[in-house]
Amino acid sequence: MTIIVTGGAGFIGSNFIFYMMEAHPEYKIICLDKLTYAGNLSTLKSVMFKPNFRFVKLDICDREGVYHLFEEEKPDMVVNFAAESHVDRSIEDPSIFLQTNIIGTSVLMDACRKYGIVRYHQVSTDEVYGDLPLDRPDLLFTEETPIRTSSPYSSSKASADLLAMAYHRTYGLPVSISRCSNNYGPYQFPEKLIPLMIANCLSNKPLPVYGKGLNVRDWLYVEDHCKAIDLVIHKGNVGEVYNIGGHNEMQNIEIVKLICKDLDKPESLITYVTDRKGHDMRYAIDPTKIHNELGWLPETKFADGIEKTIKWYLDNRSWWGEIISGEYQKYYEKMYSNR
Ligand code: NAD
Ligand code: DAU
Repeated sequence: MTIIVTGGAGFIGSNFIFYMMEAHPEYKIICLDKLTYAGNLSTLKSVMFKPNFRFVKLDICDREGVYHLFEEEKPDMVVNFAAESHVDRSIEDPSIFLQTNIIGTSVLMDACRKYGIVRYHQVSTDEVYGDLPLDRPDLLFTEETPIRTSSPYSSSKASADLLAMAYHRTYGLPVSISRCSNNYGPYQFPEKLIPLMIANCLSNKPLPVYGKGLNVRDWLYVEDHCKAIDLVIHKGNVGEVYNIGGHNEMQNIEIVKLICKDLDKPESLITYVTDRKGHDMRYAIDPTKIHNELGWLPETKFADGIEKTIKWYLDNRSWWGEIISGEYQKYYEKMYSNR
C-alpha cells in the first residue's frame, strides 16, 4: 500500500505520518508538501531517512508536478491535509485559501481520476457547518447538518467538500470526507490558540483573548484524529462523510486560565482584545456515526492531552522558538499590535 499524505509537514499531517508508520510499518508513505510558513521539514526528521518514507516538496496546485508524482509512485490512496488552515489569515486575505484549498483539491482528485486510486480522503473541518448558539447545548453538528460557513477559510473547505462529493457522483471517484473539531497536541504552529498561549506564557507576554473569551470549541487530541482517519480510509464507506469529535467542549477563557495555572503564570497576563470578525460562537460534533459504524472513540482525556501538550512545548522550545523568531514576528505584530 502506497499512500500520499499531502500537508504532512504541518501539524496534523505530521502526526498522521508518525501514527501510520507505527500502525502500518509495511506501507510506503509519501509526504507531499509545499513547505509554506506552516510546514516545517524539521518536524519530519525522525522519519526522513526511513526506507518506506519519501518527502517531496510540491504544491498541490502544480498539476504537472502532481501528475508526475502519481506516474512515479502509483499511489493506492491520497489523504489530503494540505491547506491554508488559519481563520485569521483567511480574514486578512482569502485568495491563497481559494487557490490551495479549492483548486489544489481539484488537481489532486484529477490526478486520482487519471491514474486510478483505491481511496481519496479529504480532511475537512467542523467549521463547514457554521456555528451553534451558546444557549442550546442540546444542538450538535451531525453529518446531516447543512453547510453554512462563516469565514473565507471555512468557505474554501466547504467548497472542497462539495467538489469531492461531485467527483464521487460524476466520475465515481472513491472519495471519503472527515470533518473534525479543533485539534491540539505536538507540532501545532504557534499561531493557533493553545500553542500561542503556551508560548506567550513562557515569555511572560500578554495572552490575547478575542472578545470575552466565551466562544466554545470541541477539543480533540491529535492522535485520536489520526486514528479516526486511519479507520475511515480503510473501513469507511466511499461517498460518505464522517464527523470526528470528542464531546469535549470548552470556552476559550477556560483553556487560557488552565494553561496559566499549569505553567504557574498569573491570570493578569490575560488581555481581552478586539474580537475576530464573524467569530463562530460554538462548535460541537456529534460523533455517533463513526462510533457506531467504525467503533471509533477518543482515547485521550483532555486533562491528560493538555498535560502532554504543555510538556511537549516545554521540551521542544527550539522547534517553536525558531518559528517565532523569524517571519512569524511580522505576522504577530500585524495581527496583535493595537488590537
Ligand atoms: P497546518 O497549517 O499546520 O499545515 C498545513 C500543511 O499544508 C503545511 O505543512 C503546509 O506547508 C502544507 N501546504 C499548504 N499549502 C500547500 C500547498 N498548496 N501544497 C502542498 N502543501 C501545502 O494545518 P493543520 O492544522 O495540520 O490542518 C491540516 C488539515 O486538517 C487542514 O486541511 C485543515 O483544514 C484540517 N483540520 C484542521 C483542524 C485543526 O484543529 N487544526 C481541525 C479539523 C480539520
Ligand atoms: O474547528 C476546526 C478548526 O479549528 C480547523 O478547521 C482550523 O484549521 C483550526 O485553525 C481551528 O480553527 P479555530 O479558529 O477554532 O482555531 P484557533 O486556534 O485559531 O482559535 C481557537 C479559538 O480561540 C477561537 O475562538 C479564536 C480564539 N483565539 C485564537 C487566537 C489565535 C483567541 O481568543 N486568541 C488568539 O490569539
